[in-house]
Amino acid sequence: MKKKTIEDYNLSGKRVILRADYNVPVDNGKITDDYRIEQSLPTIKYLLKQKCSIVIISHLGRPEVNHDRRYTLLPVAKRLSKLLGKEVRFIDDCIGENTKAEVDKMKPGEIVLLENLRYYKEEKANDNQFAKQLASYGEVFVQDGFGVVHRAHASTAAITNDLPSVAGLLLAKEVDTISAAMEKPDRPMMAVVGGAKIADKISVLNRFIEIADVLVVGGAMANTFLYAKGIKLGKSLVDKGDVSVAKEIMEKAQRANTKRGFIFYIPQDGVVANKMDKTASTRIVDWDAHVIADIESYPKKPAKSYSEIASNEMILDIGPFSGAFMAGAIQLSQTVIWNGAMGVTETESLQGPVGPFAHGTDTLVDALLGKFGNKPYTIVGGGDTVGYIEGLGLAGSFNHVSSGGGASLDLMSGKKLPGVEALDNK
Ligand code: 3PG
Repeated sequence: MKKKTIEDYNLSGKRVILRADYNVPVDNGKITDDYRIEQSLPTIKYLLKQKCSIVIISHLGRPEVNHDRRYTLLPVAKRLSKLLGKEVRFIDDCIGENTKAEVDKMKPGEIVLLENLRYYKEEKANDNQFAKQLASYGEVFVQDGFGVVHRAHASTAAITNDLPSVAGLLLAKEVDTISAAMEKPDRPMMAVVGGAKIADKISVLNRFIEIADVLVVGGAMANTFLYAKGIKLGKSLVDKGDVSVAKEIMEKAQRANTKRGFIFYIPQDGVVANKMDKTASTRIVDWDAHVIADIESYPKKPAKSYSEIASNEMILDIGPFSGAFMAGAIQLSQTVIWNGAMGVTETESLQGPVGPFAHGTDTLVDALLGKFGNKPYTIVGGGDTVGYIEGLGLAGSFNHVSSGGGASLDLMSGKKLPGVEALDNK
């Protein structure tokens, strides 16, 4: 990367302020996915080798009220201690005299984690005075919280005004890996974008239309495209306010198809049910091809029921034809960038390992990992997708699994990341 990293700076024996993104899911005080904590370890170990003392700062969640205990970083300090096999002392505030006094006592090789930065509204306000207090804890600032560098906050932007500021190993790896895949991919390059809301992904869809060879859209956000095409969706989730955006994206995709053969694919069939529950009975509706409905001996119900979603039903996953298309396109791809599930992966299974609405995502994972032959170079954009593949124990099987959600989307979209821009140039 063009910015200085910890490898470009003499850190020997220095007191370092390390910004991590420990915004991890916590349920009743228990961390349910520690991927982000694991990913922060290489930088911490590197700093320990340089005999640094390390003051780690982070946020967790979006607390509305100061010091809301549900958002304490204490469980993170415990998990980090365990993963490092070394004490990480927790300080229950991130500013104030007591915090400063505790930090001043630190010796080389010691680590502290300060309490949630977002307990103070000054953090999100990118407040200079707040940033100065944080900066007073150390001699150099290391930004390694890739997941939060798309925010211009006190601990990502203002803090860099007062200290030499360099990137940690995770940040450098994320930026270099994702940028390389977007700028110089081995082709054919395919993108698979899912998730709930089209609004969160407009920029990245537009970028993929410019640079990818194939773009597949799935998840609830695909519904808005289907709706824009006039398909009856029953009570499926649709962002009606974004229908015009969906139309614009489809028109742009059409132009890219005419110009350079770009392929834009939205699901042709889906798994539908009348409730999002493991006991729901599911069926497949093929709104595009009507193939099943035409086989006389097969349906015992009116043909219509195989090609139309009923008014009390909703799409909860992509169907088998769509899954087959996607898996087939992956056989022809050298690079695949994936962000967002194809269906509702959270619903538990009544029997068997795969939930009733997770078969599309499961097929995608199988295809990406080479189960059907070709194994492309794979980048998984963060957010909920990571939790899903971590749950399957498969995060290590992809070439790169990003620790950032919004940050990885912004980077893929070609946007500047304020927390990266603020770092010292090489
Ligand atoms: C994330 O989880 O995407 C980051 O930690 C940023 O969190 P935020 O969206 O609340 O700013």
